[in-house]
Parts: sequence; structure tokens; C-alpha cells
Amino acid sequence: MSNDQHSRARRIGTLIGAVALLAATGAHAADIAKGKEKAEQVCAACHGKDGNTPIDPSYPRLAGQHGDYLQRALLDYQADHRKNPIMGAQAKQLSRADIENLAAYYASLPGTLSHQR
Ligand code: HEC
Repeated sequence: MSNDQHSRARRIGTLIGAVALLAATGAHAADIAKGKEKAEQVCAACHGKDGNTPIDPSYPRLAGQHGDYLQRALLDYQADHRKNPIMGAQAKQLSRADIENLAAYYASLPGTLSHQR
């Protein structure tokens, strides 16, 4: 390889490294559409299709809740810092990206949490 080719290959290598690093550190915005997809497949069964109509009054409404609260709750269930057999099992199926996407999705929905009579 000539010197020129060599430095070009190195530059490309650095670029690929930077992109891989960005991907690995999760430098991305939460994807609400992906959160919606997952929510409809999994969470809707208990929390309702709109996040507002849980199948049991003891099951919490998620729609309109703050995203950082939802994310914290899911991470805590996953790590057994918040103990609940149902949600512990649910949260352990989720990746970090799933959690960010689900939290962003439910936070984006119109909630009834603050104006119930
Ligand atoms: C089998 C029924 C069921 C399914 C499926 C389910 N949940 Fe839950 N979820 C519950 C119950 C019951 C609670 C209340 C647990 C408790 O008291 O901590 C809960 C609580 C939560 C909370 C805490 C809410 C709060 O106000 O503190 C979050 C967040 C949550 N669920 C998100 C999800 C997400 C996201 C999914 C889909 C990946 C999901 N749940 C799937 C039953 C379910």
C-alpha cells in the first residue's frame, strides 16, 4: 500500500470507529413509533390500547405520565429495585432502547392523570 492509500484507509477506519461508537453509546433519540409498536404488541393487553384503559382498576394508567418517570419505573422493575412479579417479568424482556421508546410513546399520549374528577 502506498503512503497515500494508507492514510486514506486510516481516515476511513477512524470514521467507521466514530460511527460505531455513536451507535454503541446509544446517542439516538427515542423512537416513538417503535415504542407504539411494542406497546400495542405487549403492554396494551394490561394497560389498554391508549394507555388510559387498564384491564383492572389496580393497573396504572401510563398515558401522559412523564417520560423520565416511566423510564425510571421500567429500569427499577428490571433491576428488582421496584418489586412486582408481573411488571418485573415484563421489564426483563425489554432492551434499553425499548424502554426509552416506550417511555417516549406513553409520555406523548394525552393523559387523564391530572384532571380526573
Ligand atoms: C400482565 C399485565 C401487564 C403487562 C402485559 C404490562 N404491565 Fe405494566 N403494570 C402492570 C401492573 C399490575 C402494574 C402495577 C405494578 C406495581 O404495583 O408496581 C404495572 C405497572 C407499570 C408501570 C409503573 C406505572 C406507575 O405509575 O408507576 C409502568 C411504567 C408499566 N407498567 C409499563 C409497562 C410497559 C411499558 C409494558 C409493556 C412492555 C407493560 N407495563 C406491560 C401490569 C402489566
